[in-house]
Amino acid sequence: MSKDNSKRDILVTNALPYANGPLHLGHLLEHIQSDIWVRYQRFQGNNCTYICGEDAHGTSIMLKAEEEGVSPEKLIEEVRISHEEDFKAFNISHDNYHTTHSDENQFYSETIFSRLKDKGLIEEKEIEQLYDTEKELFLSDRYVQGTCPHCEADKQYGDNCEVCSSTYSAIDLINPISVLTNTKPELKKSLHLFFKLSSLKKEIKEWLNTSQVPSQALNKLSEWTDGEIKDWDISRDAPYFGFKIPGHNNKYFYVWLDAPIGYLASHKNYLDKLKRSEEFDDYWKPGSKAELYHFIGKDIMYFHALFFPAMLLKSEFRQPDGVFIHGFLTVNGEKMSKSRGTFILAKTYHQVLDPEYIRYYFAAKLGTGVGDIDLNLDDFLQRVNSDVVGKFINIGSRTANFINEGFSNKLSSNLHEEALIQDFLDHASVISEAYEKREFSKAIREIMVLADKANQYIDRMEPWVLSKEEKNKELVQSVCTTALNLFRLLTIMLNPVVPNLCSRVYSFLNIEEPKWNQMSELLLNHEILTYKPLLIRIEKEQIEQIKQKSKEL
Ligand code: 2FM
Ligand code: ZN
Repeated sequence: MSKDNSKRDILVTNALPYANGPLHLGHLLEHIQSDIWVRYQRFQGNNCTYICGEDAHGTSIMLKAEEEGVSPEKLIEEVRISHEEDFKAFNISHDNYHTTHSDENQFYSETIFSRLKDKGLIEEKEIEQLYDTEKELFLSDRYVQGTCPHCEADKQYGDNCEVCSSTYSAIDLINPISVLTNTKPELKKSLHLFFKLSSLKKEIKEWLNTSQVPSQALNKLSEWTDGEIKDWDISRDAPYFGFKIPGHNNKYFYVWLDAPIGYLASHKNYLDKLKRSEEFDDYWKPGSKAELYHFIGKDIMYFHALFFPAMLLKSEFRQPDGVFIHGFLTVNGEKMSKSRGTFILAKTYHQVLDPEYIRYYFAAKLGTGVGDIDLNLDDFLQRVNSDVVGKFINIGSRTANFINEGFSNKLSSNLHEEALIQDFLDHASVISEAYEKREFSKAIREIMVLADKANQYIDRMEPWVLSKEEKNKELVQSVCTTALNLFRLLTIMLNPVVPNLCSRVYSFLNIEEPKWNQMSELLLNHEILTYKPLLIRIEKEQIEQIKQKSKEL
């Protein structure tokens, strides 16, 4: 925790990726969104901890390991390594990357479960489910197909019909078939444990009314809380890859019970490594002054905005202050598709293109809404080349040479147009507010308006014409000094979005990375380095290469 009361203590999480396959650009949309916000908070001097990890349990991981002929432990470890490599390539600055298959997570899952049980909030009920007798496995919805009981469409999965959109229980499907063995499943009874959410309606509503949840999502969530809230089935029968439930023979915690508890586990693991374990309670006890936010996609809002806060409340932990929900990523206006070459893996992208490009593009599109975000590949190329290379980097590339060659790298001690610098400084608060509110597209729009102003200034002063006459020598130096100071200010403003590119700019300017509040410390009478290209344009062939590689996977 920060000792300085003026600094905020903030804990940020991402949805923990499933440890059963590679990351794609959809995952990166969320991680880039939260990374920008986290970097902005740190840049402001706040104490912002950013944690994540693998979501390592459940039937699909168990079956995938079986298919690959390895143990689930081996599979999740291999996947963890590949996920961490991808996050590193995209400059995602997690402070800790842990896993739900860990001692810490087992401890907190058991603790939370036993506290809920002590409060009478866990109930045993017998349920009937479809059972694959060949595989000796109860079938979750995604492993059963059959005919829709409402419209009679064939090959519908166990929970809802894609043709008529009705929802039902898998046991209501006509002629159900196990997709694992192609056999007819049997109905089998089993005892399950339920978390009595139905008794917590008031508390759930109370949390929703007092927390930061996007209004569009709130409407959807309220439909649910206004209706009948059902108890939540939190156990699964063996065989299952997960934690055994203490005191219950051969029953396991459902993966969605221990997944969000993984946030506590990853944070505890982080503090233990730093030998600051005692801080855990400062963050997680009820009444904590630290802020807690979860960045997630709209598909998992029920777990984060309903189940998890209710679990925390009743197990003596604090609840989140906000759940920041984003939409899905589409590519060229459609769901990502392998055959169109638009199901782009994180690795495919970073083997071809600098991650800074897509960090910028996503920032330019992200706001607080839950609508889908489209990556239009033509627009991506055009926008990044025009904004980042054509506007931002151009300010440095068109003025640095005059200072390098005409003044042995030395900036002037005078600014030529102080008012313009002041104008940029005056805009910093609007940009800062946009970052704080996660209105990144607004921040980018404002920054690009300033980049246009800087370029218009250079166009107007034409240092390339001025430098032809010796009498203009000092003027050229002060004009280019002004332009390079504007370049520095824009770099600070873009820092949360494109941190690697910005550190290349700081190296060229021969300065340490400044903090946001150091903007007004201008560079005068200062020696810069020789300019070398900081970022090149995206070529059409690179986009084609990504599409081709994605088709071949
Ligand atoms: O939807 C998913 O990808 C889940 N693995 C997210 C889990 S988030 C948290 F609860 F762990
Ligand atoms: Zn139907």
